[in-house]
Amino acid sequence: MEDDYVAYLHAELLNRLDGKTKLLIYDIAVAPEQRRRGIATKLMQAALALGREVGAVRCWLLTEVENAAARGLYEKLGGDEWSAVGFGWRLE
Ligand SMILES: CC(C)(COP(=O)(O)OP(=O)(O)OC[C@H]1O[C@@H](n2cnc3c(N)ncnc32)[C@H](O)[C@@H]1OP(=O)(O)O)[C@@H](O)C(=O)NCCC(=O)NCCS
Repeated sequence: MEDDYVAYLHAELLNRLDGKTKLLIYDIAVAPEQRRRGIATKLMQAALALGREVGAVRCWLLTEVENAAARGLYEKLGGDEWSAVGFGWRLE
């Protein structure tokens, strides 16, 4: 993260072939010295509100099992936890 950024959230709207719109949150981060001040909560609430505003029917994101901070954040915001298995490809 650049020094002059306090936090960021990267999200995209997916317009599916069935006509439904979903909000996918790719990443969220808060500078270490600014954490536990409610900044991520505000960013997430703003993203969820924007999703609702444009008619998205669902918001989803992925995080790592061991990421206690992220899991705590999403649980506090009422997210439903679901299971998934990740696959990755090294391309270099
Ligand atoms: C996850 C992250 C974005 C949270 O940002 P934040 O601004 O500190 O979060 P908030 O202050 O809004 O915290 C909201 C709630 O999340 C939970 N939480 C936040 N940090 C936590 C931690 N270190 N451990 C456990 N729970 C935590 C708490 O329930 C907290 O509420 P509380 O402070 O009233 O107890 C931040 O820790 C971060 O940038 N981590 C590194 C990047 C990352 O892992 N991003 C997630 C990618 S999926």
